[in-house]
Amino acid sequence: MATPTMDRVEEGSAASTHLLTVTFRIRRFNPEVSDEAWWQDFQLEIDPKERVLDGLHKIKWDVDGTLTFRRSCAHGVCGSDAMRINGKNRLACKTLIKDIVSLDKSGNVSKPITIEAIKGMTVLKDLVVDMDPFFQAYRDVMPFLVAKGNEPTRERYQSAEDRARFDDTTKCILCAACTSSCPVFWNDGQYFGPAAIVNAHRFIFDSRDDAGEQRLEILNDRDGVWRCRTTFNCTDACPRGIEVTKAIQEVKRALITRRF
Ligand code: SF4
Ligand code: FES
Repeated sequence: MATPTMDRVEEGSAASTHLLTVTFRIRRFNPEVSDEAWWQDFQLEIDPKERVLDGLHKIKWDVDGTLTFRRSCAHGVCGSDAMRINGKNRLACKTLIKDIVSLDKSGNVSKPITIEAIKGMTVLKDLVVDMDPFFQAYRDVMPFLVAKGNEPTRERYQSAEDRARFDDTTKCILCAACTSSCPVFWNDGQYFGPAAIVNAHRFIFDSRDDAGEQRLEILNDRDGVWRCRTTFNCTDACPRGIEVTKAIQEVKRALITRRF
């Protein structure tokens, strides 16, 4: 397929900015056009301080409006633009061109940046995957506070120490970078996956919650935590720096000891 060229240069700062000529090699898929996916190259002039998401926007807005991807906040908060960039799961809005581009000795770009949909999920179009099974697993672990007994007349107190037990897992933005980097999930999409376990952890270890046992039983399933093979792919992939594997291990330990 021909390589479209993006030759529009932003006005203003462009004159003083060193732009790089970068090839975005994107895995395309459109079931209305073909049953087969294909790679397509787009060449663009881009400031290395810009993000992969900026490059995708330039392509979509100025070169090929059919390019399809999800994004919303553009600031690493909503979790909607996880994709495989140069073979690694990342958020496009948090990935700077300068951090992933390969340069030769003359300072020219020597390799394309490859961009694909995250693995292990059905691709609907281009970089958009079907997230329904992912969110079903999330819903299955009851990701909400369950407090029994009488309504308190004041807020539910929690010590700083108790709050710290699940602080890490509160940071999840449900981007699916962890789950879609997990080899167990690639082989068997029935596995709950790291993200669902992280979100179960967030409530199991919350001292105000009363449904820890119930969540543990849900994860004691053949598709639950015991499927984890501790490969650490999930921890490496998490853009929020959550210690995903550690959280999974803590849930396993809670299942054995029934202490949480
Ligand atoms: S644990 Fe990290 S990688 Fe997994 S869904 Fe949450 S934020 Fe994304
Ligand atoms: S667009 Fe929201 S996290 Fe990237």
